[in-house]
Amino acid sequence: MLGRNIGIDLGTTSVIIYTQGKGVVLDEPSAVAYKTQTRRLCAVGQKAFDMLERNPDSLRVVQPLRDGVVSDFTATRQMLTRYLTKVCSNSIFKPNVVVCMPSGVTNLEKRTVLDIVTAAGAGRACLMEEPLAAALGAGVDTAAATGTLVVDIGGGTTDIAVITQGSIAVSSSIKVAGNAFDEAIIRQVRRERDVIIGHKTAERIKTTIGCAVLPEAELFLTVKGKNYISNLPATLEVSSTDCFLAMREQIEAISEAVRSLLEITPPELVGDIASNGIVLTGGGAMLLRMSDAIQNKTGIKTRLAENPRTCVARGIGKALGNLELLVEQGYIFKNREEITGFYET
Ligand SMILES: Nc1ncnc2c1ncn2[C@@H]1O[C@H](COP(=O)(O)OP(=O)(O)OP(=O)(O)O)[C@@H](O)[C@H]1O
Ligand SMILES: [Mg+2]
Repeated sequence: MLGRNIGIDLGTTSVIIYTQGKGVVLDEPSAVAYKTQTRRLCAVGQKAFDMLERNPDSLRVVQPLRDGVVSDFTATRQMLTRYLTKVCSNSIFKPNVVVCMPSGVTNLEKRTVLDIVTAAGAGRACLMEEPLAAALGAGVDTAAATGTLVVDIGGGTTDIAVITQGSIAVSSSIKVAGNAFDEAIIRQVRRERDVIIGHKTAERIKTTIGCAVLPEAELFLTVKGKNYISNLPATLEVSSTDCFLAMREQIEAISEAVRSLLEITPPELVGDIASNGIVLTGGGAMLLRMSDAIQNKTGIKTRLAENPRTCVARGIGKALGNLELLVEQGYIFKNREEITGFYET
């Protein structure tokens, strides 16, 4: 195939692009800003994200993906067009793109992504399951005849899958991940302290003092918000235990989903997982001691992959290095004209 080979991790929180030969070339938030009156695009990526929750009425900021799937078709296309132009500006041919999606998405959702990617400038596009790419990026030998359990905790979804012999044996996906932790912190602070905080502040609490198990040493962070009753500015100190207690239900939901997947995994593969361990990828997995929480629940050794946020993009990169193998395994690259037939496949 002519044209450059590109991998896109189209995530709820961020878009990460990998180009063959160069590695990760773009890592930007999934966000688009418009002028409210004219609906004209005025910023994409980090610049748009910086405006979020601080925008005046004249600007509208959109996060075009929700729970791992496209919720705003036009905004996603406009965002990807910008990003593809940025990474392929000096290329004559349109790129071949492999894009990742959470496991368990519907055929319509798959078709929508292919449609958008080709409308945004890809010559041919192909979908890959997110957990498979995550495993490749985490350095798992996915082709081996042994099973490994991968848990990709992103912003919108947690994808859990058992990988063996180059494909997924069993998988599940839940809509509880990094963003759900932030929401839980916002709810707790409002309920217990009568203070409303924004999503960015909640994320800062989570990444600075958050812990997935009851913390041994207490850490504190002072943040600002507004009083729920008086609507006046408020300053409050949050402890790591407060933060853990706020997120406990969501952490439990993820650990329980991992345990449930083990229940439906064939016994031989469970035996392999017991010796190979569980691998965590995705930004959400960077929550302090998330691996301990899952290890405590399952009794299986759990490790956090290196550079967990970019595992999916780097995993697609590895697959791009051997496109023939990808095609042999049944991955089909489609151009715009061929995509209409996607319903039948
Ligand atoms: N150090 C950290 N500790 C805890 N959480 C973190 C940390 N760094 C990033 N995150 C969280 O990781 C999440 C984003 O992860 P990632 O970029 O893998 O998501 P995504 O791929 O865009 O989403 P999805 O895969 O669900 O579509 C955010 O919720 C962010 O707050
Ligand atoms: Mg992701």
